[in-house]
Amino acid sequence: MLFENKSTSVFSEQTVYADRVKLSILNIYGENPKACVVTFGCQQNVSDSEKLKGMLKMMGYEITEDWALADFIIFNTCAVRGHAEDRVYGNIGKVKQLKKDKPRLIAAVCGCMAQQESVAEKIKKSYPYIDMVFGTQVFHRLPEFIYKQLNGSPRIFELTLDNSDIVEDIPVSRDGTYKGWLPIMYGCNNFCTYCIVPYVRGRERSRDPEKILEEARAMIANGCKDITLLGQNVNSYGKGCDHGINFAKLLRMINDIEGDFRIRFMTSHPKDCTVELLDTIRDCEKVSRHLHLPFQSGSSRILKLMNRYYDREAYLSLIKEAKARIPDVSLTSDIIVGFPGETYEDFKETLSLVEEVKFSSLFTFIYSPREGTPAARMADPVTREEKGKWFDELLRLQERIAAENVKNYIGKTYRVLCDGYGSNEGFVTGHTSGTAVIEFEGDEGLLGKFVNVKVDLYDGTLKGTIIK
Ligand code: 5AD
Ligand code: SF4
Repeated sequence: MLFENKSTSVFSEQTVYADRVKLSILNIYGENPKACVVTFGCQQNVSDSEKLKGMLKMMGYEITEDWALADFIIFNTCAVRGHAEDRVYGNIGKVKQLKKDKPRLIAAVCGCMAQQESVAEKIKKSYPYIDMVFGTQVFHRLPEFIYKQLNGSPRIFELTLDNSDIVEDIPVSRDGTYKGWLPIMYGCNNFCTYCIVPYVRGRERSRDPEKILEEARAMIANGCKDITLLGQNVNSYGKGCDHGINFAKLLRMINDIEGDFRIRFMTSHPKDCTVELLDTIRDCEKVSRHLHLPFQSGSSRILKLMNRYYDREAYLSLIKEAKARIPDVSLTSDIIVGFPGETYEDFKETLSLVEEVKFSSLFTFIYSPREGTPAARMADPVTREEKGKWFDELLRLQERIAAENVKNYIGKTYRVLCDGYGSNEGFVTGHTSGTAVIEFEGDEGLLGKFVNVKVDLYDGTLKGTIIK
């Protein structure tokens, strides 16, 4: 099937810069110029960093993890919570010493945090040794920025966020072979009142289905067995496009690609999670039995203040529908504790929702005010200490539920993708189609392969045996 291709090929002009950089860095740094990419934050950032590495390799850099060896270092940052930002400042401060040791080192800061003008200003004033700061929608211009720096340009600050078409054809240097990220859309239109993402990643833009399918086919041909489709809100994939492919249809199309592999996706917004999507998950044998469906708060009053477009009842009826249609589904969620104005009574509704749904696992966060968001201007009388106590109560509840959940695994057999080393030598781990991890006897040769494992026991970890 052919679709109208609206993506631009603006990357081609970057390849010209990349060729020039390649020549220059050989002259400046000698045989093996090295670059280091330091990544903070979510899977989207990890995926963007794979593109940064792809471009750096194209320019002739060898990728290193060792900061001290780098001739170019880039920090790909996260802005979603204050803690993530503090960590970045701590890290970029270390560049001062690195530059003393290596005066020709070029240092860059990009990503969600860099997109904020206040941050760019702070770096401009207080971190004079950072040579370039650029935002989330211009990172494909890395070759141009490095070329300009090598040719004596002043420090670069480029924060354009114009929501123009998605730039395709950026080279990707993937961190793994049998597990991979596949972005299907960028940005977010939801403006949850606590969240900085729509301000730093811009409006929702979906990739052309043909580009996604092309990339999926290439990943599978290269041995990928577990593809995670990425987007801030994958359920609104295709909105506003004229190709008529929504997320459920896209999943079916990827499921139809030949080969033995799994499809995962994140994140889904409950307001856009349709019955069509649930049935698609049920029907498509390659789509993992996992739904990450952040509810954020169990209180309808708080959900309204958060601008989430659903209430407690709607969320619970969606969960009921998901469990009915996909009986073996693993459910996970994100929760914010201590949103401005939240009372202990509201928080108890979060606890009771967690108790009712029985999630496999949870990602829990204490509310962090983000400058420029509506929630940051709301009264927030509960102390951090009090919120910490609520948070601990939630963790204890989830620990109890998770311990109960794992009992259901014992005695059953699961098809797992072997994807890690176990806690003891001679053991490996594998992920089920849901979210469980099982440890069993095996060696390196099993990594990247599917095997059937029968679960024998749980001793803090699920332990099993391969069934031939
Ligand atoms: N404070 C705390 N947690 C937040 N999240 C997003 N913004 C904030 C914030 N300001 C959480 C939400 C979201 C996840 C990715 O991060 O739970 O789903
Ligand atoms: Fe942030 Fe809400 Fe968009 Fe998720 S859906 S990225 S929480 S604004």
